[in-house]
Amino acid sequence: MADAVEFHDRLLSLGLARVSEAAALASARLIGRGDEKAADQAAVNAMRDQLNLLDINGVVVIGEGERDEAPMLYIGEKVGTGNGPAVDIALDPLEGTTLTAKDMPNALTVIAMAPRGTLLHAPDVYMEKLAIGPGYARDTVTLAMPPADRVRALAAAKGCAPGDITVCILERPRHEAMIAEVRSTGASIRLITDGDVAGVIHCAEAEVTGIDMYMGSGGAPEGVLAAAALKCMGGQMYGKLLFRNDDERARAARAGITDLNRIYTRDELVTADVIFAATGVTNGSIVSGIKREPGWVTTETILMRSKTGSVRRMSYRTPVK
Ligand code: FBP
Repeated sequence: MADAVEFHDRLLSLGLARVSEAAALASARLIGRGDEKAADQAAVNAMRDQLNLLDINGVVVIGEGERDEAPMLYIGEKVGTGNGPAVDIALDPLEGTTLTAKDMPNALTVIAMAPRGTLLHAPDVYMEKLAIGPGYARDTVTLAMPPADRVRALAAAKGCAPGDITVCILERPRHEAMIAEVRSTGASIRLITDGDVAGVIHCAEAEVTGIDMYMGSGGAPEGVLAAAALKCMGGQMYGKLLFRNDDERARAARAGITDLNRIYTRDELVTADVIFAATGVTNGSIVSGIKREPGWVTTETILMRSKTGSVRRMSYRTPVK
């Protein structure tokens, strides 16, 4: 009986990759079609169908929204066959809906799974995020440091000049001051229009992506997903929830969050071993996007387990139906 409830992350990981692949395949024919909603809906439907085939007793803790806003994959929805371990699920069936609609880089389907009660139930508010890759001493950079100090501290730890550091930031008016301050150090900035899960993951493979640090505010749900990925790949991350009004504070209360000023570390966002899968929808530096050729479609998925630190990149080719 005890065995039936154990979280067999190794056995479940391939199933998780299939869920991620299915969502990407479903959104494939909507890449570049200018319809964000249709692309997202296709990914949601496919992810849900595939997830419900898994032998898990799952609950969506990071999903498409609260129950009254999202008919499918809403926060609190039970997923899986019910015959298996009790797990938390964090998902974003299409991270980068606009990137997909416009056929721009780094749109992903993303899902993470961990034992029940171990993923932060982040409300749908903004989160201030800061991330760096593996190999640095703890607290090399912190949210308390001004952006320019973070660049200088990371450069010192890396043994390079601030001008050799590249920071990834979402291009938003709210980030203008941060961007100017980072530029004042001589560091370069990779501005992205969307997709900060990919932005954070980029830090874990700085030698491939050229990105050393991620900073700025974005969705809190995406922050938990990014923390799950970094827990597998190595790297540090901090997140602080940001509240703009009472409605957002009420969302936090409903999610059981009482300390509104808390700064979460990576391992406080994701408190136990986690498995993570992301499939490329459009081409990106982490995984390739969907390739279509006559009769066939091919996806690439990154599948990772924090318990072992294993990072697999899996190519999947299937006939077009
Ligand atoms: P969608 O896939 O839902 O469009 O979200 C994309 C995204 O860019 C996230 O990666 C990011 O966390 C968030 O939106 C940023 O929010 P905003 O666009 O409000 O700045």
